[in-house]
Amino acid sequence: MGWLRAASFSDLKEGGVVGVDVAGTPVALYLLDGALYATHNICTHQFAFLSDGYVEDGCVECPLHQGQFDIRTGEAKCAPVTGRLATYAVKRAGDDVFVDLE
Ligand code: FES
Repeated sequence: MGWLRAASFSDLKEGGVVGVDVAGTPVALYLLDGALYATHNICTHQFAFLSDGYVEDGCVECPLHQGQFDIRTGEAKCAPVTGRLATYAVKRAGDDVFVDLE
């Protein structure tokens, strides 16, 4: 599919997470220290939107059971999550944020 527009950069907040739908795929977008990151937005443990959780120390914490994932790598950081979270390439062009889901 290549690069797909996911959001406006101006909708993102430093240290925050925003959930978007990209061609039917739920994606979480993050802005950390001025850099963009993108992961799948559904926890690998059970069904919860990570964009409803919160970001701390480079990790996103799931709102349902407080499992954490490294935003940069998708690595599961603590119980009960064990499955890695998918991460995606992300880039900015002006105010547009693009994600590559492949
Ligand atoms: Fe995310 Fe359980 S659903 S930790």
